[in-house]
Amino acid sequence: MNLAVIGSGGREHAICYKLKQSPKVKKIICLPGNAGTQKIAENIKEDISNFPAVYKIIKEHNIDIVIVGPEQPLVDGIVNYLNEKKVRVFGPDKFAAQLEGSKAFMKNLCKKNNIPTAKFGIFNNFEDASNFIKKNGVPIVVKADGLAAGKGVSVCSSIEEALKNTKEILDGKFKSSNKVVLEEFLNGDELSYFIVVDESSYYFFGSAQDHKRVGEKDIGPNTGGMGAYSPAPLLTSKLEKKIKKKIIEPTLNAMKNLGHSYKGFLYAGLMIKNNEPYLIEYNIRMGDPECQVLMMRLETDLLEIVDYATKNKLSDLKIKWDKKNCITIVLCAKGYPANYIKDSEIKNLSNIFIDKNNQIFHAGTYKKNDKIYSNGGRVLNITCLSENLIEARNKALAILEKINWLDGFFRKDIGWKVIKKK
Ligand code: AMP
Ligand code: GLY
Repeated sequence: MNLAVIGSGGREHAICYKLKQSPKVKKIICLPGNAGTQKIAENIKEDISNFPAVYKIIKEHNIDIVIVGPEQPLVDGIVNYLNEKKVRVFGPDKFAAQLEGSKAFMKNLCKKNNIPTAKFGIFNNFEDASNFIKKNGVPIVVKADGLAAGKGVSVCSSIEEALKNTKEILDGKFKSSNKVVLEEFLNGDELSYFIVVDESSYYFFGSAQDHKRVGEKDIGPNTGGMGAYSPAPLLTSKLEKKIKKKIIEPTLNAMKNLGHSYKGFLYAGLMIKNNEPYLIEYNIRMGDPECQVLMMRLETDLLEIVDYATKNKLSDLKIKWDKKNCITIVLCAKGYPANYIKDSEIKNLSNIFIDKNNQIFHAGTYKKNDKIYSNGGRVLNITCLSENLIEARNKALAILEKINWLDGFFRKDIGWKVIKKK
């Protein structure tokens, strides 16, 4: 089969890597891809928000299935566009993509269906929002309604900060949002829970824990994710039953009843408080960098999963996971998540030994004259699988030492909360 993967991050490199292991894959194209996907797939430079141009490429390459990595094209309706042209796409339609594309949509769906989530208010004028903030006090979480590239959420510890961030959102700081969602602050442990879904069934698709803050011990500004590990020890079978019964199944049923059955990967960002799960957010795609650790642990053929899901036959499949632990450490360009260094050569990559337990997934990289350069905030994902997390982390740190990229930085403490306890 011929496949197209849309996106250019570490997530998409990990998806291409896993797809390439399938004996049924003939060709993979990646739009636009990076220096890592280039080794596996044919990279094609195209603006992925230009759906007619994407469709033209898909036709030219006789693509059987399209896999969409990032949220923006899904929220913009790429699945509807390509389905109308009779192209098979793995992902939710534009309506279902609102689960991530509009926090107000997601929160209202939770309220209507008794799905546990933080108490909240949705506002489009400052006066009502500021009354809510003053009445409820701090800490309070201020969220832009629409997509904001990971920058739309702030946990505020003073009324002044909450009012300032609310005003900025209502004044149009994010083009995607004219509403603000104000939320009760939930104190607990975060857990990423993944499923793969077709119209009639769904399957667990792994658990992970992400590290969103830029600094060690989880301090500093939020990022897209500085590292992750899988599986998450927090997920017991008792907790999983609650997650399915109280969060996942009511959501999938609600979407079905709205006439837009969910399809694709669904990523629930959860807060676990006193052994009870609360939904913080939905992502309508795989996580990045969570996908990198999950693809290393996935034993089942990914093409088969996507093929079956798009034929609505997921229930015929068994999905198997390697029980080992996987960790990924994100190597970032200095300055990230603010302005960061670009076009810096990464010299030592060809000396690194990689195998099925040790991979370097590329994110913001490109290749020029046989050299690899950085062009993003998150640049490489050093991903290692091992019997235990400490060993996996040590292996990743040893690789980072060999790369020795002077314009980069990374967190040495990925997994600190669980590793510390051992
Ligand atoms: P989101 O984009 O909604 O996932 O929010 C980004 C991060 O903000 C989450 O991963 C949490 O760490 C934090 N966060 C969001 N909502 C809440 C909440 N209600 N209580 C505590 N922390 C939150
Ligand atoms: N790592 C967080 C996300 O993909 O949204």
